[in-house]
Amino acid sequence: MDTATVERFLEGMRYETERTGPREGFPSLPDIPAGRYTDPAFLSLESQFMWHRSWLYACHVDELPEPGSYLLWKKTGTPILIVRGKDDVIRAFYNTCRHRGGPLVKTACGKVDGLVCGYHGWTYSLDGTLVNLRDKRDFPGLDLSTRSLIGVRCERFYNWVFINEDPAAQPLLQHVHPFFDYFRQFQPECWRLVAQEGFDVNCNVKVLLDAFLEVYHLKSIHQSTVDRFLDHRGTTIALYRNGHSIMVTPNRRPDWQDPGTRGMRRIESATVISSKNNPSFNFYPNLVAPVDPSGVPFLLFWPTSDRSMRIECHWFAPDWGGGAPPELWKTRIANFDRILDEDLQFGPQIQESLMSPGFRGIPLSYQERRIYHWHEELDRRIGRERIPEDLRIKPVLEPFYEKL
Ligand code: FES
Ligand SMILES: [Fe+2]
Repeated sequence: MDTATVERFLEGMRYETERTGPREGFPSLPDIPAGRYTDPAFLSLESQFMWHRSWLYACHVDELPEPGSYLLWKKTGTPILIVRGKDDVIRAFYNTCRHRGGPLVKTACGKVDGLVCGYHGWTYSLDGTLVNLRDKRDFPGLDLSTRSLIGVRCERFYNWVFINEDPAAQPLLQHVHPFFDYFRQFQPECWRLVAQEGFDVNCNVKVLLDAFLEVYHLKSIHQSTVDRFLDHRGTTIALYRNGHSIMVTPNRRPDWQDPGTRGMRRIESATVISSKNNPSFNFYPNLVAPVDPSGVPFLLFWPTSDRSMRIECHWFAPDWGGGAPPELWKTRIANFDRILDEDLQFGPQIQESLMSPGFRGIPLSYQERRIYHWHEELDRRIGRERIPEDLRIKPVLEPFYEKL
């Protein structure tokens, strides 16, 4: 993150703290139609054109330590195999045999020498090439070279692996520009996986995702936790193309440091934006990363049905020198889970409301504009012409994107 960007966020926090209304010229945001959270036809479009065509976080390279290490990834319903090749390249394929669809791997993770279908034994190398099949004499003329596993785009943001089912997707690092540059300050090559956890919640995935795009709720549901340390009035927001955004919230006291991070290794090259303030990145659509120089939870939001979702927290920290993560992490994660409980508490009740005639739509305030930005991008991905008119939202935020 260069000096000009650091200054832009610092100035932004000063401005936001003092302002008496929205920034001059900022439009009032039209209501978000309720059906975008409940209408089965809309949610089907969302699944087809957004969830199955976006760059989605899959894993950290620590989870694929050796050639042949694999993960079976099914977060969006489609079984996808992610495997480290003999050449150390991490690739992704549909876990679908080219013969009659048998699975190549059957467990969530493991290590293999090659990929052998459990049904009739077609054998693929780790780069997806079909190398052998049983009773070849009964497939006269079959050209093995045209029957490789079908690949899924798989690229890395530092040591974090993302996949995308859209073969024509923009390369990951172009897509998430300028986050690659912003993350360099944390020396992310040395970050390692600490722990993973997940929680199922009975609400549409956007209900909870919305909560992590704003700090308007701090004074109500985090009164005795986050709100004691963070000043939501000073939150500054940067909106980027492709739906990505950042918010940075100042501490109430400039010298405050989260007691949960004391004694942990900190990356000294981190800028004042994360060492003395609280940035939170949204990698569109579903990764929220509130990065601190001592560690970060990657918060991931996955739909499990139209009315249910799973939130996962994957914790990463600068290399602690080998072995199990330091004991301090247990307390830090437990403290975080307490805050997470506060965030999750209304999910099922809001879902009940969404399905009630009492819910008519969502009026968003200036400080909740990241949610509107998220929805604008959703319409872009689906294609506005495919969306029934009463469920579309009017694009108004592009003039307020960061100029890069
Ligand atoms: S389905 Fe894979 S070998 Fe037949
Ligand atoms: Fe919250």
